[in-house]
Amino acid sequence: MFRMNSISSMKEQQIYEFFNSIAPRYDITNSLMSWGIHHHWRKQLIHSLSLPKNCKIMDLCCGTGAVTLDLAQLAGPGSLVVGVDFSEVMLSIARQRLSGHPFQKQIQWIVANALELPFSDQSFDCITIAYGLRNVTDILRALREMRRVLKVGGQIAILEMAVPVHPVVKRLHERYLSGWVPFLGHLITNYRKPYQYLHESIRAFPQPEQICKLLEDIGFANIQCQRLTWGIVALYTGQRKTP
Ligand SMILES: C[S@@+](CC[C@H](N)C(=O)[O-])C[C@H]1O[C@@H](n2cnc3c(N)ncnc32)[C@H](O)[C@@H]1O
Repeated sequence: MFRMNSISSMKEQQIYEFFNSIAPRYDITNSLMSWGIHHHWRKQLIHSLSLPKNCKIMDLCCGTGAVTLDLAQLAGPGSLVVGVDFSEVMLSIARQRLSGHPFQKQIQWIVANALELPFSDQSFDCITIAYGLRNVTDILRALREMRRVLKVGGQIAILEMAVPVHPVVKRLHERYLSGWVPFLGHLITNYRKPYQYLHESIRAFPQPEQICKLLEDIGFANIQCQRLTWGIVALYTGQRKTP
């Protein structure tokens, strides 16, 4: 079995294998499970950004590259978008999806671990991460890495699943994640565990207030959190403070 060098724990290895296994059906499963609302969430993420001309952006945990492509469109010619993910299978789907696309020239794909980014300090104007932070084994270390490679004043935008606050919505959401999601995931991909893990990872992920506090503590300013669709998703934005 292939083992990526920078994977340092059993849990990380398991997550890596989950994503490699579900990658070929990731997009269709995502659309069905979110009832297509993930397109709206992605647009919200893109609209939250205001990019300088000829900028350099990283889409961390880019998966099959949907956000990466939107970023390339937003940033325009002269800009570079680097899609980073540790799953080679996800990245190969991203590459196929964009082959022959007019924005392809503006995108680079890099296999790397979010906990050990292979980039020098202050090399990006903007970093996005959609549904990736919940999957890294050390959230604080990943955020610190993002801050390190972001220029002073550079923007960060994090899109992540959350637990809704309203008790009725919370209960329905819980049922949906524990019942329907693993059932549908198994039906489409033939794998159940990654979809059971999805539920566990959402429950274990820090609450929006805690994420905002972490961002502040490690050196981000102008932090905002917007809850989307009854709070089942949260969009966090901020800027790197002076060193
Ligand atoms: C739920 S998918 C999100 C993909 C994409 N951003 C989207 O919006 O659909 C999470 C991605 O994070 C990647 N990932 C998880 N842990 C990672 C890590 N430590 N380093 C790099 N990529 C990681 C997985 O391989 C997977 O492609």
